[in-house]
Amino acid sequence: MKIFLDTADLGQIRRAADAGLIDGVTTNPSLVAKVAENRDVTDMYREICKAVDGPVSLEVVAVDRDTMIAEGRKLAAIHENAVVKVPLTEDGLKACRALVDDGHMVNVTLCFSVSQALLAAKAGATFVSPFVGRIDDISGEGMQLIHHIRQVYDNYGYDTEILAASIRHPMHVVEAMLIGADCCTIPPAVLWQLSRHPLTDQGLDAFLKDWNAAGTAI
Ligand code: G3P
Repeated sequence: MKIFLDTADLGQIRRAADAGLIDGVTTNPSLVAKVAENRDVTDMYREICKAVDGPVSLEVVAVDRDTMIAEGRKLAAIHENAVVKVPLTEDGLKACRALVDDGHMVNVTLCFSVSQALLAAKAGATFVSPFVGRIDDISGEGMQLIHHIRQVYDNYGYDTEILAASIRHPMHVVEAMLIGADCCTIPPAVLWQLSRHPLTDQGLDAFLKDWNAAGTAI
């Protein structure tokens, strides 16, 4: 499963990319707004694309097809790894088809149902982003959506990649892997949480205590 980092924070992206742990990055307007200050967004996107060797999702902010296509073309021109992110609306699906026909990668985002995911695949999306955590937030079962999309895409051989998004904790990542999501986009804090286990810490403490007591050196 590919791991993408769900952030526009360049420091976090470099930290994870330098550790060789991520296959790409996803951003959205809210994540960009958190770190943009007064910086030029195109420069910021270029830096992010340089920091990671893999797809980087950059989202349009228009809501009509033609302006989405125009924005998408600009975003795609920033870097060869840029993926244009469009919302899962009628106009977004139309923009997706046009951008894919242009030869660009497209991530269709804000997916909350299997029927929406079917249309994203029909529109030729490279990725579809079902938002697991936001479904859980309203007492739904976000992972059930990943499961059903996997089943539908496998039944009919759609090659749109399922990108599990709105990930809130390590078990979301584990469940997405077990279901067979193609990718998971993870906030930086959750990425580092994945590495932690109390038995690892206890075991390491015990090893070092024993080693130091013996007075040995490497
Ligand atoms: O990038 C989109 C998605 O991952 C947003 O997550 O936590 O705002 O629902 P969240």
